[in-house]
Amino acid sequence: MAKIIAGLTTSHIPAIGNAIAGGLEQDEYWKRFFDGYEPVKKWLDEVKPDLAIVVYNDHGLNFFLNQVPTFAMGCADQYQNADEGWGIPVLKPFQGDAAFSWHVAEKLINQGVDMCTCQEMKVDHGFTVPMQLFWRHHGDYPLKTLPFAVNTVQHPLPSARRCYEVGQALRTAVESYPEDMKVVIIGTGGLSHQLQGERSGLIDVEYDIECINSVIENPEWLCNQSNSEIMEKAGTEGIEVIMWMVMRGALPENVNVLHKHYHAPISNTGAGVLLLTPQED
Ligand code: DHB
Ligand code: FE
Repeated sequence: MAKIIAGLTTSHIPAIGNAIAGGLEQDEYWKRFFDGYEPVKKWLDEVKPDLAIVVYNDHGLNFFLNQVPTFAMGCADQYQNADEGWGIPVLKPFQGDAAFSWHVAEKLINQGVDMCTCQEMKVDHGFTVPMQLFWRHHGDYPLKTLPFAVNTVQHPLPSARRCYEVGQALRTAVESYPEDMKVVIIGTGGLSHQLQGERSGLIDVEYDIECINSVIENPEWLCNQSNSEIMEKAGTEGIEVIMWMVMRGALPENVNVLHKHYHAPISNTGAGVLLLTPQED
């Protein structure tokens, strides 16, 4: 059977892609940020997952404002990257697993999560930067992927609680797949940031730490907040933290914290890295 063996979190800011392309990882500005990933990379290289579900938001590459699904997933054997205008080099296509995706889609829809299924899907920095952060040291990415897009761009957005419930359904869907597969799920984006308007540049370190602690041991704390309450604290783009709740919902109530790292500011955001594994329930 397939099993979700870990949940990860990471920022996905495009500047990271440019820092990698420019070989700046050990520069003073970037070093502490990138060092926060090393224990997770080591762990992933030891356990060798077969597939990563990457929960991210599309920022206008695949879905523009004229058509924005609330939850969409890739059902293809390959996903192309393309130029978004951030100056990041375009990456080679990522491998998918259409058979696995269709199984997950069917099981989600049977549980009342009415997914948008995409047989073609371009992946943007929300997906590619996390993949680079965890696996760029391999020549070719050593695992398959399932892009799972959540609308965090055009209101109304799904709530933190709805994202958590979708994660719970995702776990049931994945773990009913008959093939033996080690799956990791990555919640991307966040933490606090606002990229436009009067509060542009906002970061709230205290709130970020509370979010990290909530994701680890008390998801109800975030689930009980409305999107307006989250944006009031975390900024309009800080709402991306709802994608961490999809990841958290896909893990059991109790988790082991194998790694926890926070760094702010990086570009315009507070950045959190987590590696959580299920405590057997
Ligand atoms: C930044 C953060 C994001 O989440 C994003 O999608 C683009 C830019 C930033 O902090 O620069
Ligand atoms: Fe973003």
